Amino acid sequence: MTRPVLKLKRVQDINITEGSTVLVRVDYNVPMKDGKVSDDTRIRETEKTVKYLVSKKAKVVLIAHLGRPKGKVDPKYTLKPVTEYVEKIMGTKTYFAEDCIGKAREEALKNLKNGEILLCENLRYHPEEEKNDENFAKELARGCDFFVQDAFGAIHRAHSSTSAVTKHLPSSIGFLLQKELEYLEKIMSASQRPFVAIIGGAKVSDKITVLESLLDRVDVLIIGGAMAYTFLKAQDVNIGKSLVEEDKIEDAKKIILKAFKNNVELLLPADHLVVKEVKEDAKTELTQSMAIPDEWIGVDIGSRTISIFSEKIMSAKTIFWNGPMGIFEMPAFSNGTVELAKAVAKATKNGAVSVLGGGDTLNALKKSGVKPEEVSHCSTGGGASLEFVEGKILPGLEALAE
Ligand code: 3PG
Repeated sequence: MTRPVLKLKRVQDINITEGSTVLVRVDYNVPMKDGKVSDDTRIRETEKTVKYLVSKKAKVVLIAHLGRPKGKVDPKYTLKPVTEYVEKIMGTKTYFAEDCIGKAREEALKNLKNGEILLCENLRYHPEEEKNDENFAKELARGCDFFVQDAFGAIHRAHSSTSAVTKHLPSSIGFLLQKELEYLEKIMSASQRPFVAIIGGAKVSDKITVLESLLDRVDVLIIGGAMAYTFLKAQDVNIGKSLVEEDKIEDAKKIILKAFKNNVELLLPADHLVVKEVKEDAKTELTQSMAIPDEWIGVDIGSRTISIFSEKIMSAKTIFWNGPMGIFEMPAFSNGTVELAKAVAKATKNGAVSVLGGGDTLNALKKSGVKPEEVSHCSTGGGASLEFVEGKILPGLEALAE
């Protein structure tokens, strides 16, 4: 699919002056544990945009969602605890508005001084948000002079705060969105070859369209994680009791055929780490081949596969990675994912452009000890980066196009 090139205005190109009220859509859909943010990456990634606006002495109104409260007020999904993180990261007085529209926000905004920040309560407490409701968008825009989109992770959603709102305010894209697009465009154009894509995770069903689309661009496609077992079964390889999507076997066959037709080297695991029961202290075995004996379950790629995949990765000049190679959340089954992360870091050091996306992939990177700066770009949007690479037109970007 060829996507039209969209002309997008950048935040640095608009005339924000002292006292301008700027509505900024951010993706603060961050993991929370016991009322605390357990990973503040998505907040830190908006630092450049927010600090830029603060430096212009604008009043910064942040809008975001957290989880999926289904249009109802649910304290489990309040953004309130995020306020102190924003204040600390941005180094600027930050207030919290109990609602993202209406009286509560209006009052809070009245008291906001130039160069201060107002974080608003969860957009998804209102059912209108996910319906891309015009009136709700108008309410979001009320009292503001400009709209800045910096929520890359939500850009694949056609919601009021990502789409309809752009009709009511002069709109532009923030620095995070600019960076995301720059790197993902590099992946799409893949001017540096060879281009190696690594796709893992549990389900083929989540990744069929991205696999199909990647086959038009890559030189090598590496498939790992539980989805690899469906591909092996599609070739009549025994996979024991490993996870399989029976209803996706035909799709897997089509992908294998397309790879062959497009002259893409499709790599599946050549051996596996297997267990009889999925638990941390389970007895593990390494298979001798790509086949998994009856009664055994695949939980990670094997050592021979790690060498084969790593070698391919290290010869790459463009790398896109989404999805782990095994049940990496359990340390005993994380070795494959960890070793590939190290290979991606080495390739990057040797000049490759590497883009990683998806929460699991970024968690795996953390576990491997590889620092985010050792790869070219860690995308803050799992679903959004996949849809971008699929070649889809993302509603939030389309709405911003001039
Ligand atoms: C994400 O975490 O992927 C984004 O914030 C989008 O969230 P959603 O899948 O609930 O729309």
